[in-house]
Amino acid sequence: MTLTDTQASPIARTGSRRTVLMCRPDHFTVSYRINPWMHPEDPTDTSLAVRQWETLHQAYLELGFDVQLIEPIAGLPDMVYAANGGFVLDGVAYGAKFTHPERAAEGPAYMEWFAQAGYEVRVPEHVNEGEGDFLLAGDVVLAGSGFRSTTDSQDELAAVFGREVIGLELVNPSYYHLDTALAVLDPEPEADAEPTIAYLPSAFSDASLEVLRMRFPNAIIVSEADAAVLGLNCFSDGSTVVIASRALGFAEQLRERGYTPVGVDLSELLLGGGGVKCCTLELRR
Ligand code: ARG
Repeated sequence: MTLTDTQASPIARTGSRRTVLMCRPDHFTVSYRINPWMHPEDPTDTSLAVRQWETLHQAYLELGFDVQLIEPIAGLPDMVYAANGGFVLDGVAYGAKFTHPERAAEGPAYMEWFAQAGYEVRVPEHVNEGEGDFLLAGDVVLAGSGFRSTTDSQDELAAVFGREVIGLELVNPSYYHLDTALAVLDPEPEADAEPTIAYLPSAFSDASLEVLRMRFPNAIIVSEADAAVLGLNCFSDGSTVVIASRALGFAEQLRERGYTPVGVDLSELLLGGGGVKCCTLELRR
C-alpha cells in the first residue's frame, strides 16, 4: 500500500490573525422555532451558554485574534449568532435583512455597530442572513439559498462587492444556512490556489453539488454524523480550525490535511441551531 501525499507529508500551514465580531449570549434562550433544531418547550441554561461561549472567545484570544464585541440586546435571543449580522469585506458592511420577524431587529443593531466601528454600511434591499449564507472562498463568494437568504440578495451582494458570487441551493431544513453545510478552511489562499473547503454533499441540490465538485475537486467530504453535530460550522485561521468537539471524524480529516483542530463544546448554543461559526462574524478591512 502506498501512502497518499497528504498522509506522507501533511502541508505545513500558517494561520493568519483574524478580526471577528462576537456577541455574548446574555439573553440566549429558545423561545420560538425557526429551524428544526429549536424546541421552545425544552429548557435552556443561559449561564451554561455564556460559559461555553466564553471558551470559544478565549480560544480566539489565544489564537491572537482581534475579537470585537457587540452589546447583546434583551429580547433578541439569537443575537449570539453574530455570523448572521452581515457580510463584511474590503471595509464595507452589507447589512442583514432577516427572514423571520423574530430576528428582524438584529439587522439594524448590527448595522449600527458596523457604522460606529468605521465600516461603510450598505443597507440591504433583499432578504439575507449575512455570513450565515455568504462565505468568502478566495476571490469568490459562495452564497447559500433555499431557506433564508434569497437569490436576489446574491445579485445585490455581487453589485456591492464586485465579486463573483456562486449560488448554492440548500435542500435539507436542518442545514438551513450555508455555514452549517460548508466550511472554508483557507481564509487567505495563495493567488490562483483552490481554497480548501469542506462540505456535506446531501445538503445541496444536485445542480449545486455539481458546481461544488467542478470548482473544488479537492474538497473534504464530511460525514452525516459530523455534520449533525454542526461540525462544519467551524472557524479556521488557515492553520488552526476551531470546531465542535464532537466532530471527531472531521477533526481527523483536518489533521490529514495539515490543519490543527481545536474542539470546543457549544452544546447549549446547538439548541438554537448554531455552533462555532454562527457565533463568529469575520471583519475584513
Ligand atoms: N436560531 C438561529 C436561526 O435559526 C440560529 C442561527 C445560526 N446561525 C448560523 N450562522 N448558521 O436563525
